[in-house]
Amino acid sequence: MEQTLSIIKPDAVKKGVIGKIVDRFESNGLRVAAMKKMQLDAKKAGDFYAVHAERPFYGELVEFMTSGPVVVMVLEGEGAMAKNRDLMGATNPKEAAKGTIRADFADSIDANAVHGSDSVENAANEIKFFFSKEEIV
Ligand code: CMP
Repeated sequence: MEQTLSIIKPDAVKKGVIGKIVDRFESNGLRVAAMKKMQLDAKKAGDFYAVHAERPFYGELVEFMTSGPVVVMVLEGEGAMAKNRDLMGATNPKEAAKGTIRADFADSIDANAVHGSDSVENAANEIKFFFSKEEIV
C-alpha cells in the first residue's frame, strides 16, 4: 500500500485543528500508519527542507517550522501521495481550491497548515527522515 508523509505545521497545531485535519485524511480513505507530535529544532527543520536551501524563503521557512510543535504522520492508502496533495490544495492558500485543507485552515504561503510529500520517491525518504520501521504500523 502506498505511503506518504504529512506534517501538520505549527500554525494549525496552534489553532487546535489537528483533529479536523486528521479527519480529512481518515474520511477520504487515508489511514494513519504512524503519528507523533514533536518540536523541530533548526537542524532538523533545515535538514528536512535542505532541497530549498538556496531559495530566498528558506530562512523564514525554518524559523516558522521551529516556532511551535508539529504533528508528523505517515498516511497510507491507494494513491496516498496524490490523494494527500489533492486534500491539501495549492501551496499558497490564496490559490487553494475550496474545501481543501489549506483553503480552510491556512493563512499564508508560510503558515500553510500542512506539508505533504510531492512524489512517491520523496515520500519514502521523508518517512525515513522521521520514523523508524518499528514506529510504522
Ligand atoms: P511545503 O509543502 O512545506 O514545502 C516548502 C514550503 O516552503 C512550502 O510548503 C511553503 O510553506 C514554503 N514557502 C514559502 N514561500 C514559498 C514559495 N515562494 N514557493 C514555495 N514554497 C514556499
